[in-house]
Formats: sequence, C-alpha cells, structure tokens
Amino acid sequence: MELQKGQYHPAGPGDLRSPCPVLNSLANHGYIARDGKSITAAELKSAIRYVGLGLDIASALVSRVFQVHSDDPKHGPPGSSKAGLRDPGQVNKDGIPVLNLDQVGRPHALEHDVSITRQDRELGDCIHLDPELYKQFLGTAKEGRFHTADIGRYRKVRYDEQQRDNPHLQFGKFEHYIACSEVAALRSVFGKGVTKGIPDDYVRAVFGEERLPYEEGWSPRRFKVYFPEALAILLVISHYAWPF
Ligand code: HEM
Repeated sequence: MELQKGQYHPAGPGDLRSPCPVLNSLANHGYIARDGKSITAAELKSAIRYVGLGLDIASALVSRVFQVHSDDPKHGPPGSSKAGLRDPGQVNKDGIPVLNLDQVGRPHALEHDVSITRQDRELGDCIHLDPELYKQFLGTAKEGRFHTADIGRYRKVRYDEQQRDNPHLQFGKFEHYIACSEVAALRSVFGKGVTKGIPDDYVRAVFGEERLPYEEGWSPRRFKVYFPEALAILLVISHYAWPF
C-alpha cells in the first residue's frame, strides 16, 4: 500500500539516511524522499520550514549545504565550499541539483566529533545512534524535560569525555558552533516555550525512532523560528557548553 505523506514508516534496507535525527525523521514521514535519494533544495527547504524553521534560516542553511563539497575550496570547483555536501554535477534527470541523505554525513564537511548520540568518527560509528550515548543523554532530563542550560552543560560533558577518549579529537570553534546550532534548532522546534524545555518523550521519538512526536502531542510551531530567536538560544547553549 502506498504510504501517505506524513505517515511514519522507518527506513528499510537500501534507504539512505544521515547522522541527523531530524532529517531522518523527515524522510521517515515522507516529507523528503523516503529512500533518502535525489532530494532537491526546494524539497529540503519546504520540509525544514514545515517543522518550524523560518524562511531566513531555511534558505541560508539549504543554499549552503547544496553547494558542491570541496575539502579545499580555494582549489576546488568555483562556488564549492567545505560545508557543501553535493558532488560536482550531481543533478536529477531534469538537471536540478540534488542531494542524498548519506552525503549529509560526509567527512570534513558538517559531520563533527563530540555528538550527543553518535560516536566520534575515529572511535566508531558517527552516523547511527549509539545506544549507550543515547541512554546517557536521556538520563540528563529533569522531571521529564530537557532544559536549555542542561543541554548546553551536557554538550560540555560530552566534550570532556571525547577529549579524554579520542587522541585525534577535532573540535574547534567551528564545530562547537555547529554542534550548538543543532541543539538550538532542536530546542526551537520541539521546545514547549521559553522556560519549559523539551519533553523527554519528544526526544525519545526523534532520536530513538526517528519519528516526529505527533502522538506525544507535538505539532509544528505556528510562529516559525527566525535568526534572532535562534541566535539567542544558540548563545545560551554555547555559554554552558563552552569548552575552550
Ligand atoms: C538542511 C537541514 C539540516 C542539515 C544539513 C543537518 C545536518 C546535520 C548533520 C551533518 C548532523 C551530524 C552532526 C554530528 O553529530 O556529527 C546533524 C545533527 C543534528 N541535527 Fe541536523 N541538519 C539539518 C536540519 C536539522 C533540524 C531542522 C534540526 C532540529 C529541528 C536538526 C537537529 C539536529 C540535532 C539535534 C543533531 C545532533 C545529533 C547528535 O549530536 O547526536 N537538524 N545535523
């Protein structure tokens, strides 16, 4: 039976997925291609706007990641960038640029060490959920909620752990701000309000099942998150997470 857009169905064998629990959830609900293949910028932008990102953030993020990837942009193809995720000439049959979800995890681009629920590339699987890290993260909720300051503090705990365990740790300011932006986006999209934090059953759905937490009571925010709000949350998280 054909699945409806919005209906949840976990990835099957052969479906491509990313290290991002939210992008994987969007694919599992059919808001972007369920097989994770040949996603256009318009599709990706509309999916992340649907969950609550404002047009400014969605456009900036998508145009960045749709650039062609180059480890060394000075000598790479024109318009290429390190944060870009596509291969040169990667287009669909109509000539429109496309991206596959596994490319979101490509090395030397956005994927980084010191993840909340993924292992460092040097030490193991940096793409899929690590059950032990996941359990440890769930343990940081207080009275069923993940508060912004606690999420920031937990990023610092993760830094200290990986600093101890990974002799080749790569985590500078660029990675710090990316990592803090991810959890700031999580907080913006799934948080209950300024002081109420993220309900832990939302986190279980998104990380544990890569599912949007409709059943738990979530619905996409009516007023989207634009740069000023996202930056404010990012700065709070960065303050508590700051490891340098
Ligand atoms: C164009 C859209 C997006 C791209 C390209 C993207 C990319 C990524 C990448 C590369 C990672 C892996 C980082 C790592 O741990 O090594 C990641 C993780 C993450 N992303 Fe996304 N993401 C997108 C949208 C979103 C949105 C909309 C949210 C939240 C609502 C989000 C929340 C997260 C979170 C919380 C993680 C951290 C997972 C962890 O540390 O275990 N992402 N994302």
